[in-house]
Formats: sequence, structure tokens, C-alpha cells
Amino acid sequence: MRNAVIYPGSFDPVTLGHLQVIRRAARMFDRVIVAVLINSSKNPTFSVSERIDLLQQATEDFENVEIAGFNGLLAAYARERGVTAIVKGLRAVSDFEYEFQMAIANKKLNPDLETIFITADSDLMYLSSSMVREIGSMGGDISHFVPACVHDRIVERLRKK
Ligand code: COA
Repeated sequence: MRNAVIYPGSFDPVTLGHLQVIRRAARMFDRVIVAVLINSSKNPTFSVSERIDLLQQATEDFENVEIAGFNGLLAAYARERGVTAIVKGLRAVSDFEYEFQMAIANKKLNPDLETIFITADSDLMYLSSSMVREIGSMGGDISHFVPACVHDRIVERLRKK
């Protein structure tokens, strides 16, 4: 698929930082496939179907964004989907080393695959899903961290945890 990009991640749950990457990628590419990792070694708080649902709701205004689940290697999934670009968000220098390693490993596994980095805006570079989970599960205000349309669902779910 030409001019398509995969944005992979755990999205446990989606945050405004993720949405910013999706919005900017959707302006650059004809199609953005947001790919939720199913077989993560992390123990996710939100199930795969919850994470996909939340992403679908958060991106419903974007016509060129698709939400999908994937298993196994990202490099193989990209090949299977006929996509030759991955987009990742870079929040701080601390993200760089890990992302750089992954980009090189993915390129070794699939030489056609390019990794493109989108830098976070300064007001969102501190944000992570685990921060949202921790603050939300302790009753704190997460309205500055998650898309407004999924805020209540995330709050309700984290309080039930
Ligand atoms: N805004 C907000 N948070 C962001 C963010 C952004 N722009 N970019 C990353 N994050 C946060 C995430 O919320 C997450 O936070 P948490 O750890 O507090 O939950 C953290 O950064 C890590 O992001 P995650 O979505 O887990 O992605 P990852 O960088 O760990 O990579 C995959 C996940 C799916 C891309 C990777 O594990 C993968 O490719 N797996 C498939 C198996 C594979 O191919 N392995 C070989 C890879 S070389």
C-alpha cells in the first residue's frame, strides 16, 4: 500500500500524546494504520478490544485512520499489510536510544521498512499511559491527558480496577 504508515503501540490507554502523533501522521500520509500490540509482554490494564474501541472513538473524525490489532513481529505485520513506513512518537532524548534500536532491528528484519519520528509538542512530552493509569486509578484529574471524548470511559474503567 503506497503512502500508508503504521503507528504501532500498546495504547494502554490512548492519550493526547498519541492523538497528536496520529493527527500529524494523518496529514502526511493517505492512510494511517494505528496498530495495537496484542501479545505484549507488558500486562495491560485495558483489554485489546477496550484499547481498540477507545482509539476508534478518539479518531472517529479522521477519515484516513484505521485501528487494528496485531500479533507477532511489527516488521512482519508491515510486510503482510504491504506498508513500508512506521511512525513513532519521540517525547524526549530518553526515548531516542530505545527507538533507534527498534528502528534498526526492524530495518534488519524488513529492509523495505522506514521508521519516521514525530517529535512531541513541549506541552505533551512528559505524558505516558502509565502516568494516566496511576493518576486515574487514584481519583486524580486526567482531563489534561486523554482525549475528551473517551475521558469518562477511561475514568470509569480505572476506578473499577
Ligand atoms: N505520547 C504519549 N505517550 C507515549 C507517546 C506519545 N507520543 N509515545 C510513547 N508513549 C508512551 C506509551 O504511552 C507507553 O507508556 P507506558 O509505558 O507508560 O504505558 C510508552 O511510551 C511505551 O510505548 P508503547 O506503546 O508501549 O510502545 P513501545 O515503544 O514500547 O513499542 C511496539 C511497542 C508495539 C511498537 C513494540 O513493542 C513492537 O514493535 N512490538 C512487536 C514485536 C516486535 O516486532 N519486536 C521487535 C521490535 S524491534
